[in-house]
Amino acid sequence: MQTATPRKVEHQQTDRGYVPVYATGVVEQPWSSYTRTDHEVWDTLFKRQCELLPGRACQEFLDGVAKFGLGDGGIPKFAEINQVLASATGWELVAVEGLLPDEVFFDHLANRRFPVSWWIRKPEQLDYLSEPDLFHDLFGHVPLLLNPVFADYMQAYGRGGMKAHAIGPEALMNLTRLYWYTVEFGLIDTPQGMRIYGAGIVSSKGESIYSLDSDAPNRIGFDLARVMNTRYRIDTYQQTYFVIDSFEQLFEATRPDFTPIYARLRQSRPHAAADVLDASDRIYHCGSREGFAANADT
Ligand code: PHE
Ligand code: CO
Repeated sequence: MQTATPRKVEHQQTDRGYVPVYATGVVEQPWSSYTRTDHEVWDTLFKRQCELLPGRACQEFLDGVAKFGLGDGGIPKFAEINQVLASATGWELVAVEGLLPDEVFFDHLANRRFPVSWWIRKPEQLDYLSEPDLFHDLFGHVPLLLNPVFADYMQAYGRGGMKAHAIGPEALMNLTRLYWYTVEFGLIDTPQGMRIYGAGIVSSKGESIYSLDSDAPNRIGFDLARVMNTRYRIDTYQQTYFVIDSFEQLFEATRPDFTPIYARLRQSRPHAAADVLDASDRIYHCGSREGFAANADT
């Protein structure tokens, strides 16, 4: 039996590039129609990441994976995840067809609902997929929703998104970069060493290694306005990672009203993804840039 394919509505130019936009409605997770292959893809990806991530992902992430029982075999049931989430931080997963229009996405986050694509990649796509699937959304994002500070950050981001949307496209771009460099590709400096917390990294075998071990990319201390003014890559591993000290630091840094920051950034040119600002960056590692492609930042 074949799993139904997600309903693609149209392609649309968005702040994340040219992406498919899907039906916006929340659907029921079609758990009983996952094939044996679908479950095997989950198990393979899960095992691969779990062998790699201890000592690489932050402890909060690893704790979340264990608490949800994400490795109990096969694709988890959202209803079971939701029972754990409800009592821990009041978040809820909703099943969706795929990437959502910005306002719909922000509205979910602002109400502590995290949209998860219900479909999973095919076996030939284990290493690369151009749009988020169930493995990325669930394994990558959901474990940290058990952390109270990160959980609050995600909701605040959703509210901030509605505000940025009302201010205009430049503000939205600034805010999207913040999501990219924290929620998707963030690193955190812990007493045990540099660790990963970004969902785009923990759900990728290659980038889980590259982000910490490679000499090529920059690793720079988190600075809010710097991050919001830095372009990023959607087609390659990141050229720069921004490093937070703690989730509390991230939450506190993003608490102020961004309106004046958006206004200020409108007057300045954005930094390229690979730039290092010698005068102001707190540099953990200045990248060798080996293998970097030029001129394709978003
Ligand atoms: N403080 C931000 C604003 O005024 C909202 C926000 C919070 C955005 C947390 C991102 C993360 O717009
Ligand atoms: Co994601």
